[in-house]
Amino acid sequence: MITPFAAREPYIEAEALACACSSHSGKNYRIGVAQCSDDYWRERTNDELRFELLNHPDVTLDIRSADNSNQKQIEDIEYFIDNDYDLIILSPNESRPAVEVVKKAIDKGIPVVTLDRRLASDDFTPHMEVDNYLLGEGVFRYARSLSKGNLNVIEITGPLTTSPAVLRHNGFTEAAAKDPTVKILASEDGKWDNGRTSQLIDSLLNIYPDVNVVYAHTDHMGIGASRALKARGRDDVAVIGIDGFPEVGIKGISEGNLTASFLYPTEGARLLKIAIAILNGEPYDRITKVAPLSAVDSSNADIMIAQEKHLTQETDKIKLLNSKVDEYLDLYTTQKMLLISAGIILFLMAGGLFLLFRGIHLNRKHRDELLAKNSQLEEEKEKQRSLYEQLSEATKSKLIFFTNVSHDLRTPLTLISGPVDKVAQDPSLSEENRRLMTLTRKNVNILRRLIDQILDFRKFESGKVGLHLAEANFPHLLREWS
Ligand code: FRU
Repeated sequence: MITPFAAREPYIEAEALACACSSHSGKNYRIGVAQCSDDYWRERTNDELRFELLNHPDVTLDIRSADNSNQKQIEDIEYFIDNDYDLIILSPNESRPAVEVVKKAIDKGIPVVTLDRRLASDDFTPHMEVDNYLLGEGVFRYARSLSKGNLNVIEITGPLTTSPAVLRHNGFTEAAAKDPTVKILASEDGKWDNGRTSQLIDSLLNIYPDVNVVYAHTDHMGIGASRALKARGRDDVAVIGIDGFPEVGIKGISEGNLTASFLYPTEGARLLKIAIAILNGEPYDRITKVAPLSAVDSSNADIMIAQEKHLTQETDKIKLLNSKVDEYLDLYTTQKMLLISAGIILFLMAGGLFLLFRGIHLNRKHRDELLAKNSQLEEEKEKQRSLYEQLSEATKSKLIFFTNVSHDLRTPLTLISGPVDKVAQDPSLSEENRRLMTLTRKNVNILRRLIDQILDFRKFESGKVGLHLAEANFPHLLREWS
């Protein structure tokens, strides 16, 4: 039995534990997924994680593949730590290289859940895996059932720095050890690689021509083995692989390159549920062991292909529905934004209209007030005009009266002035009488001039007299007036 690293054994079936971390409820979680590669098995697990994510709209996944590189995987984990992801799901490429960086994540308070391949560390990380030991035993039982005679096996393992390879090896070889009819001729590391396996089988065939079973730890490597066997015309050798993907293993069976493949189940949905439980501070299974599935061979490969086809169609439908839901969600968000914007615009418009109507109303009120004032002024003006008319009527009557009186006074005054002039020029007048007559004559003239002026005024009033400028003897006038 190989024990290459300090894996915690025995694993406990679905142990329920309360999480020590605090609850983040109400928060949006970011989960970083550090996959070791991006083959079919990984891709299906990732799809299942994504589907399960539909039930958790507050969680986002960032899935990265290390492309079988330990260094790249360490960088991916560092990235998740540096960017404060809430949880890391890790499928270690190999058991040791990521130990330090996982410690760093845990020290920073970021829970790490390991998937499929174990970490060579006693650090506490929840873990989920398929029972690879049972799987190895299952492969042995199947191989044993193929013939009644001796079994001469070449085993092509995965790297023994990964727990699935170790356990698949241990399960198979420990069962084989109990059966004297089974001989394990060779056990070599195919490094999960198809081409390398081809080469290995090619050279091993020279050493072990009596081989009748090749046990490859993956279908991919099994196909590589089959290629080398076929090239040597060794159709008699059974090839058994693991994974059971339609595109590789099942296809290999229907094309006659693989004898059987063991389905290696993916449990992405279950894995995400564990991660969410940890984040929410709910109880979760510290160790989750998934039971391996049975073998597919030529007796049931057709059913598998049909089922897989159906499943793929259903999955495609779900994917389509999902993308439609995303589309509608986007549409809904856009429409919501538009509705809010329209609401704001309507509100602003209503405000604008209110201000406009208020302005119109105030304007009208103001205009009515002005009109009222205007008509008041008009009335005032009308009153004044009629007063003025009355006044000018009265003035006119007065003037007519004065004119008439003046006319009446002028005639006798003219009649007086003639005799007065004559008498005043009489040379027989005494000095005293001449002085008196001159005074009388002067005053008669003044009176006549006054009457003339009244008459002139009337003429002036009716616009019949203009301004006549004339030279006068001012000192004489002064003297006369004084
Ligand atoms: C996928 C894979 C599978 C194999 C498993 C073992 O990455 O190589 O083919 O069964 O990993 O960890």
